[in-house]
Amino acid sequence: MRVLVACEASGVVRRAFREQGQDAWSCDLLPADDGSRYHIEGDCVPVLAEGGFDLVIMHPSCQFLAVSGNAHYARGKPGYPKRIEAIEWTMALWELTPSGQNKLGPSPDRWRKRSETYAGVGAAMVHQWGGEDVT
Ligand SMILES: C[S@@+](CC[C@H](N)C(=O)[O-])C[C@H]1O[C@@H](n2cnc3c(N)ncnc32)[C@H](O)[C@@H]1O
Repeated sequence: MRVLVACEASGVVRRAFREQGQDAWSCDLLPADDGSRYHIEGDCVPVLAEGGFDLVIMHPSCQFLAVSGNAHYARGKPGYPKRIEAIEWTMALWELTPSGQNKLGPSPDRWRKRSETYAGVGAAMVHQWGGEDVT
């Protein structure tokens, strides 16, 4: 299976799929952290337009996608039941124990360290979409 992991510089998900024997590639505006030759450095949009992938996984920058600011909306605001539901679901996540990524202090590359995919998440993607179990 030919896999594109778009917006990934860490190579975590790419490596997980390659270890399973898939023809996996990562693509990011940044160079690959691991210097892999299975990384396309550049804009993923033309790569996607070219096609030829059986599976595409994307980790786009979240500043325009995240709903973390929704916590500031008034509870019970009429007309937005789905948003309220999403806020309550998100707030329940705050009960979870913070990971090391969330405890990182300020630094120029904090965003990058915080956005690196956990290896276990990469393995779970392979488990779910790779067609075979991985250990
Ligand atoms: C939230 S981070 C995801 C990091 C990823 N989870 C990892 O482990 O490397 C978003 C990434 O998207 C990349 N990016 C943003 N726009 C892009 C584009 N048009 N094409 C390719 N990569 C892009 C950024 O450089 C950044 O590394």
